[in-house]
Amino acid sequence: MPVRISDVVTWVGKTDWELRKFHGEEYSTHRGSSYNSYLLRAEKTVLMDTVWSPFSHEYVAALAAEVDMDSIDYVVVNHAEPDHSGALCEVMRRIPDVPIYCTANGVKSMRGMYHKDWNFHPVKTGDTLNIGKGLDLVFVEAPMLHWPDTMMSYLTGEAILFSNDAFGQHLASEGLYNDTVDTCELYQEAMKYYANILTPFSKLVTKKIQEFVGLNLPLKMICPSHGVIWRDNPMQIAEAYQKWALDYQEDQVVILYDTMWNATRRMAEFIAQGIKSAAPGLAVKCLNIGKSDKNDAITEVFKSKAVLVGSSTINRGFLSSVAAILEEMRGLAFKNKKAAAFGSYGWSGESVKQIEEALGGCGFEVIQPGLKMLWQPDADGERQCFEYGESIGSSLAG
Ligand code: FEO
Repeated sequence: MPVRISDVVTWVGKTDWELRKFHGEEYSTHRGSSYNSYLLRAEKTVLMDTVWSPFSHEYVAALAAEVDMDSIDYVVVNHAEPDHSGALCEVMRRIPDVPIYCTANGVKSMRGMYHKDWNFHPVKTGDTLNIGKGLDLVFVEAPMLHWPDTMMSYLTGEAILFSNDAFGQHLASEGLYNDTVDTCELYQEAMKYYANILTPFSKLVTKKIQEFVGLNLPLKMICPSHGVIWRDNPMQIAEAYQKWALDYQEDQVVILYDTMWNATRRMAEFIAQGIKSAAPGLAVKCLNIGKSDKNDAITEVFKSKAVLVGSSTINRGFLSSVAAILEEMRGLAFKNKKAAAFGSYGWSGESVKQIEEALGGCGFEVIQPGLKMLWQPDADGERQCFEYGESIGSSLAG
């Protein structure tokens, strides 16, 4: 249902309470999401972004009940990923000649995905679109935040930044604003979004925020394309992003492992005890990556100073769940994290060395030679694991 959020702007998006996976099966969305679309009505009428294609028909029906579709003068596409452009085909079927404002890369993405030659108007940073009543939309390109086509739009007068994915969260809620939802849930989802999607682009995040802050523009609201609108102290999320973009870490170590017959699990737990004993101020979390949500685990990696990865040896290698999380961490290119490997084996024992190499490939600093253990740890093995953890804890505390 449309919600008026200012004199000029109405939210016309879709709250997706059911969504549990996003980007295909890649990203878990335990709290659903929303696809935020905005209708701007001054002397001109502008539709800003749409929703994911499965909701095309209900979205356009609700939009047509809110506004005469023929009165829409411009469409703005800040980002062409299908969760925001998915309903365009249905929209443009109704208003085929209406100009679409987007970046040049946005044109390429939309032509590639929809094979339509709509009335594209490519824009660059600083280009403006006057919508009457003394209001302008100012476009700001934001390439690789997180696609090449991404841009943001700033509405003068109303002082609203339409930031698209940046500052968003996969969070379905009845409350449309940051001051109407649970703050812990909100920040958990905002951080998970940053950790899993924006981490590789942290340098660009810092630069873009500095660029925006440097303009010294008034700011009443940040309207992202997922989750709640930042209305109460909107700069708080930009400040959080600035912190997160600087190789963020908390006093935490995460131990990610998978285990066949519990030997590697027991190693993980004794190592954790050793770390805690040497560094009581560190939070230590053990996650069986074969049983844990991958994206939640990545959020824990994001928060950690050090990442320990363990696996049993199988078929002269390591377990497939460990391979998956290593590949995820490689792609996200975390910076300034320490690491170590461990694992149990029965005869050949290749996993630890291979994990160590993979951790190096993730850009982590491997701070200890890996710890291999034959069969189940006995009392001496438990002591070795504990001491291994102590040594890691001491180096992190020091
Ligand atoms: Fe929410 Fe990059 O799409």
